[in-house]
Order: sequence, then C-alpha cells, then structure tokens
Amino acid sequence: MQETIKLVHHEKKDALINASPFTVKHAQTARSFHSTFPGYAPTPLAELDTLAETLGIAGMYVKDESYRFGLNAFKGLGGSYSLGCYIAKKLGKEMSEPTVAAAPGKEMSEPVSSDSAGGKTQAISFSDITSEETRRKLGEITFVTATDGNHGRGVAWTAHMLGQKAVVYMPKGSVQERLENIRRLGAEAEITDMNYDDTVAFAARQAEEKGWILIQDTAWEGYEEIPTWIMQGYMTLGLEAVEQLGGRKPTHIFLQAGVGAMSGALAAFFTDYYGADKPVITIVEPNKADCIYQTALADDGRVHTVTGDLATIMAGLACGVPCTIGWNELNRCAENFASVPDWVAAKGMRILGNPAGTDRRVISGESGAVTTGFVCEVMQNESLAELRQTIGLDRNSVVLCISTEGDTDRENYRRIVWDGKYPSC
Ligand SMILES: Cc1ncc(COP(=O)(O)O)c(C=O)c1O
Repeated sequence: MQETIKLVHHEKKDALINASPFTVKHAQTARSFHSTFPGYAPTPLAELDTLAETLGIAGMYVKDESYRFGLNAFKGLGGSYSLGCYIAKKLGKEMSEPTVAAAPGKEMSEPVSSDSAGGKTQAISFSDITSEETRRKLGEITFVTATDGNHGRGVAWTAHMLGQKAVVYMPKGSVQERLENIRRLGAEAEITDMNYDDTVAFAARQAEEKGWILIQDTAWEGYEEIPTWIMQGYMTLGLEAVEQLGGRKPTHIFLQAGVGAMSGALAAFFTDYYGADKPVITIVEPNKADCIYQTALADDGRVHTVTGDLATIMAGLACGVPCTIGWNELNRCAENFASVPDWVAAKGMRILGNPAGTDRRVISGESGAVTTGFVCEVMQNESLAELRQTIGLDRNSVVLCISTEGDTDRENYRRIVWDGKYPSC
C-alpha cells in the first residue's frame, strides 16, 4: 500500500509575542550584506497562474533558489552571512542595522550604522571581508562543517573567496556530484560512513581538537551564535519574496524542514512582516526524517529525534535532530507540521519541471520540490479533503512555496523527471 501524508495542527495564540533574532530588521541587515556580493540578484519568484487555476486556488508562487549565487541552492545565504558576522566580530565591527524597519508594502531603508561619533558609517561589505588587510588581521583560519551538500558548498564558496581553508564532511550515501562541487571550490571534502547527525557530531569534535571554526547549520545547547547568524542569512530570501509579491499577501506559506533552521527563520520573518494578518505556515518533512513533525506531535516541551539511516530521496532534509533555535520559532509561528513520503517530492519535481500553459519552468530538486508536491496532492486528492480543511486551503488561497534547490543531483533528477523512478534509499 502507498504510504500517505500525515499532519499535526497546532493553534497559534502567541505568535506575535516576539523577542526573536529573526525579525524584518534582521532580514534587512542580512540582505544589505548580501547585496554587496558580486553577482547578487534576487532569485526569481515564479507566478504559476495555470497551476493555481488547475488546483482551484487563487494564486501559486514559487521562489526559485536554484539561481542563488550560481550555487543551485539557497544555502550559500547562511554560510556567507555567518562568516561575515564571524569576521565582523573578530575585527570588532558590527553588521549594519537599517535605520527604519519596513512595514508590509513600504520601501526598505538604506543599510547604515552609527559610528561612535554618532555619524553614519557604511555597512561591512563583501570587499571588507575579502580584503588583503582583513586576511592579514585574521591570519589562517580553517572552517569546518558537516553537510548533505548544499550547506557545505556555501561554506566552501565563501571560504574560497576569503582565501581561507574549508573542511567538509558528508554523510554516507552522499552523491559524488555534490562532493565534487565542493572540492571544485578548493575545500577538503570527504564522505564518511556515518549518518547526517553523527557526521555533525564528528565535525564538532574535529573543530574542538584542531582549533577549527565549526560553521554548522544547526544549533544545540551551547552552540547557538553561528547557527543564529546562518539562519539570519536565510532571511534575505524571505525579504526578497515579500518585495516581489508587492501588495499580494500569501494566505498560506509552505516551508520544508531538515533540522528546521531555514523554516524557523523564515516562519519568524513572515510572522513579523505580516503581523496580526500572518499567513498560515505549514512545515513539510520526509517521513523517514520527520523530527520536527515528531516534536510537534509529542508537544511535550522537548525536541524529539529520529535515528537510523534517514533514507529519503530528499537528501537536504535527511536530518534526525531538530535545530533548537529553529524549533523555538516554529513552535511559535507554524500552524501545521506534515510528514510525507518520497513520492510527494517526486511529484513536485515533475510538476515544476513541466509547467502548464505559460507558467515559468522551475528546475527543482528533491528537497526543493516537496512543498509544491504537497500542495498539489492536498488540493487534488479527495481522500485528503479533511487535511485540506485543517490547513484552510480553498479557492481564495494564495500560496507561497520556496524551491530551495535546483537539480543538485542531476542523475537522480533525470531518473525521477524523465523515467518516473527513484531509488529506494
Ligand atoms: C535544498 C534544501 N532545502 C531545505 C533544507 C532544510 O534546511 P534546514 O536543515 O535548515 O531545515 C536544506 C538543508 O540542507 C536543503 O539543502
């Protein structure tokens, strides 16, 4: 029998009580920094009108992160911002703070910060962090991380631009193409014989023993500063999305989760941006690695982990230990938590890669397409009518999904989209 979709619903009563480090203001600071990078441009927001009509909803938007910095995934946003923050702190500088926080539909303010004399100074920029002077001041640094591929590629890319070293460990089963993409950026990279969570623990031990700097895209007790910066970096894409939407407010936002860092930061951002009128936020995970879903299901004030091989085609989401900071934000801001089989991601890949009518084509990988696959299945499958009602999807709904990666594993992409097959992991 085909595995099916599961959902947990939480009423949100206190989403707006917010002392979070993931506000509109933090997003503006991150975007100001990213916009100094050569080649920075907002990634496209695809407006899929024909798909919306087919599904019986009022609007369908998919933000296409395959265009991000030429890295084929959103993850470079977090790696680059965290390294920028790390260097700024080392040099005794601050990341810029915008003068005025923007409200929905308003223009964003210029990135400036006050110097000690009360004057305005320019924000720390790409050229500051990559300058010869900065390299001399910092000396040689080795950045280390564990990754399924996308995060490690972002860290390797940034370290390469800084003229610093990166060491990257990947879990067993990682795809050779992703390993080579990281090595091409000058990093030392290898595939271990451990699952993702054990690889993270290994990278942390290596950092401690060798005096390397761990740039990990998940947090745990005592390791929070760098993951917070990484998550703040992800918010650039949220800010771009609301600007691209103009006055059109999504009623529903769907975010995929591995450890829940990206979805936590973006759920908090959208909640701060839209305030009392916040969209319904639904988190989507693979059922073989559904640690956020299990945590929401238990609802007992603790995070819950999933162990084993975490065998899913959604390599970017194959994580069994929730990010503590991410979960705090999701607990506050997300209404629904879904656990889905691999075929949902495969369905999303096929739909986005083969658009109807004049809809824009989005090349979306396994982890990128799962939210679109989820929305399509929920709207089209009558046996999921109750779940559709719980989420509140109907003909007035305007949906926003993030395609977080392109075809980062091209062989598997073709196997799924051309042959309609995917491996049992
Ligand atoms: C393509 C892609 N999408 C989504 C995610 C999920 O991010 P997080 O682990 O912060 O939940 C990842 C994580 O690596 C990813 O690579």
